[in-house]
Amino acid sequence: MHPLQCVLRTQRWGPWASVSWVLLGTCRVHSSVHGTSCPSPERQQEDGVRKDFSSRLATGPTFQHFLRSGLAPQEKPDVEDPPPYLTVDELSGRQRKVYLETYGCQMNVNDTEIAWSVLQKSGYLRTRNLQEADVILLVTCSIREKAEQTIWNRLHQLKALKTKRLRSRVPLRIGILGCMAERLKEEILNREKMVDILAGPDAYRDLPRLLAVAESGQQAANVLLSLDETYADVMPVHTGPSATSAFVSIMRGCDNMCSYCIVPFTRGRERSRPVASILEEVRKLSEQVLQLIHERDNICKQIHLPAQSGSSRVLEAMRRGYSREAYVELIHHIRESIPGVSLSSDFIAGFCGETEEDHLQTVSLLREVQYNTGFLFAYSMRQKTRAYHRLKDDVPEEVKLRRLEELITVFREEATKANMTSVGCTQLVLVEGHSKRSATDLCGRNDGNLKVIFPDVEMEDVHNSEVRVRAQPGDYVLVKITSASSQTLKGHVLCRTTLKDSAACCCP
Ligand code: 5AD
Repeated sequence: MHPLQCVLRTQRWGPWASVSWVLLGTCRVHSSVHGTSCPSPERQQEDGVRKDFSSRLATGPTFQHFLRSGLAPQEKPDVEDPPPYLTVDELSGRQRKVYLETYGCQMNVNDTEIAWSVLQKSGYLRTRNLQEADVILLVTCSIREKAEQTIWNRLHQLKALKTKRLRSRVPLRIGILGCMAERLKEEILNREKMVDILAGPDAYRDLPRLLAVAESGQQAANVLLSLDETYADVMPVHTGPSATSAFVSIMRGCDNMCSYCIVPFTRGRERSRPVASILEEVRKLSEQVLQLIHERDNICKQIHLPAQSGSSRVLEAMRRGYSREAYVELIHHIRESIPGVSLSSDFIAGFCGETEEDHLQTVSLLREVQYNTGFLFAYSMRQKTRAYHRLKDDVPEEVKLRRLEELITVFREEATKANMTSVGCTQLVLVEGHSKRSATDLCGRNDGNLKVIFPDVEMEDVHNSEVRVRAQPGDYVLVKITSASSQTLKGHVLCRTTLKDSAACCCP
């Protein structure tokens, strides 16, 4: 299972954690996924329209592109107190460029992010161009013989780079980080004189000092293993080159001692990261996602935040891990972060022990938040669940259905009010295809992921007023909204456009 999913599902979370999961799962990011996979034969046979759409997607930017350019402002170097034999200046990175190369497992991906976080704080810059690097660090793997051989081979190549280094530049420094440093220790320094520093998996905080010592031409090593190092206070910098996902590590080391495995010896004793520090990292990731949704026109401004109930008492019985107040606070935070955001939610009517007063609390939450889309259900007891074993399904069926009807009515009233504010506006719509109900209408989604229906007619293209075009799936069109219900908007199409051309033209 994906580590992020694993984290989110194995802890008891407040609303923040569920947001991050939902956000990562539902925001429509129009990006290409760079990978090793080739299009399958079936894909190659797709019709021209889809192909055109896919090729346009493939040339678009990735999620990481936004993260790197839009976020993570350069922090001022934060250099620790130097040991007596080094000055503050010597300990700082002095804008030297670091090239990091990661081998092996997902833990090494995370270790790379931690190592980089430490170095960035102490004034190093990152480069993705090997030729430009002043420091090359290999985050290594020892799991099998072949993994180590790969590193030895790489070191031979780097040796050539180091020897050829111009005298006019600062000398190139090479470091071995992670499991291989831990396993082989001085054997590496003896065998490869060109290696300047060694840092084991628990020694990344020491990297600035090790590099400073290496500046004087000496080899430097720290391969001490720790019983408690979890880098809890080091916020990893998620910068994988083609990463479309972020890993949140929750533990380090291993105590299993499987008879074939080196890991307990290279990564040390098993220890868990403090829950508060995991939560803080997930919160920061969630904040980044909110910021991106706000900033970027190619991410739809819609968030699904399942509340289930408006009563804190029922939420506790449901074991949701948040109160009504915490949920409402989160809604306010999201609305402030993303003005005009469209919200949707799930609610259950008639959960075990739900009183009329609890039900009214849910009604009032629906009124307070005014969701744009809602998914409302009558509670049905499921075998094996905690509620099945511990609680009583004591709300009579007819009461459940009556409460459900009331929730649906209130939700519809509020959603209609919210959607009516779009009438008269011109909205950017991503075309999905023909409307299910009518072959003469097209259906698409606005920036709030709400369905917009409009007649399938010829229109002008903003880039070429000479020709008239029909909108195809994947096209962006401008639609003037003329009516609204609780679930859809209707309007007439004005022209075909692009994301870029339409930026800031439309009301929400
Ligand atoms: N009864 C009614 N609704 C349920 N849901 C999940 N389990 C039940 C149940 N036993 C609803 C919740 C959830 C959505 C996917 O289905 O609202 O968010």
